[in-house]
Amino acid sequence: MMNMADLFGHVVSPVRRDEPLCDGAVVLRGFALADEIALLQALDTVVVQAPFRHLVTPGGFRMSVGMTNTGPLGWVSDRSGYRYDPVDPLSGKPWPGLPETFRQLATAAAAHAGFAGFVPDACLVNRYEPGTRLSLHQDRDEHDLGQPIVSVSLGMPAVFLFGGMQRADPPIRVPLAHGDVVAWGGPARLRYHGVLPLKPGHHEALGAARINLTFRKAG
Ligand code: SIN
Ligand code: FE2
Repeated sequence: MMNMADLFGHVVSPVRRDEPLCDGAVVLRGFALADEIALLQALDTVVVQAPFRHLVTPGGFRMSVGMTNTGPLGWVSDRSGYRYDPVDPLSGKPWPGLPETFRQLATAAAAHAGFAGFVPDACLVNRYEPGTRLSLHQDRDEHDLGQPIVSVSLGMPAVFLFGGMQRADPPIRVPLAHGDVVAWGGPARLRYHGVLPLKPGHHEALGAARINLTFRKAG
C-alpha cells in the first residue's frame, strides 16, 4: 500500500490503526492528524496567555519539561506539593479556556478507546526539548480515577514508557509520533508511565520540540 503524507510532508500510516497496549490502554495512531492545523492554532493562543514554565517538584528540583495548562483546572507543582489549581500562579488569573478543538478531540479519542462520555476539565501541556525526559510516574492527583487519561503527541517523536502497577515493573517502549493519541483508564488507569529523553531533531511545525497534551477529568 502507498504511504501518505500529512500536511507537513511527514510519512504517516495509510491506515489509522488502533494498537492495544494492555487491558484498558490503546494507542490511536494518527488520531489527531485530521485536526492538526486547528490544534496548533489553538495551542498558540494558549501559550500566549499562559507561557511554558519549569515547575519545581516538592523536593526542590526544577522539571526539565516546560509546562502550562488550559481548561478550568491546571496541574501545578511547587515546594508544597502537586495540585490542581483554577488559577495560573504566574499570572494570578484563570488558565486559558479549553479550546473547543481540544475538548472535542479528547472526547472523541476517549470514546474511540472505549471510554464514552469523557469530558475533560484539565489539559496539561508539556513541552519537551531534545534531552528532556519525564521519569516514571502515576497520574493520581485526580478526584475520580474512574475517568481515563487522553494523551496527544505533537511535534518531534518520542519513546513513551508504559509500565505496570509497580514502579519496578519493566515498561514497554512505545514510539509516539505527531498526531498519535494514547488513552488509558479502567484497569490501566494507575499504570506507571514516562518519556525517554528526546532525541535531537526538528519538526516542521514545532521546531526542536515535542508537545504533549494530557487531558484529564481532575475535579
Ligand atoms: C505525562 O505523563 O504527563 C505526559 C506523557 C507524554 O508526554 O507522553
Ligand atoms: Fe502522566
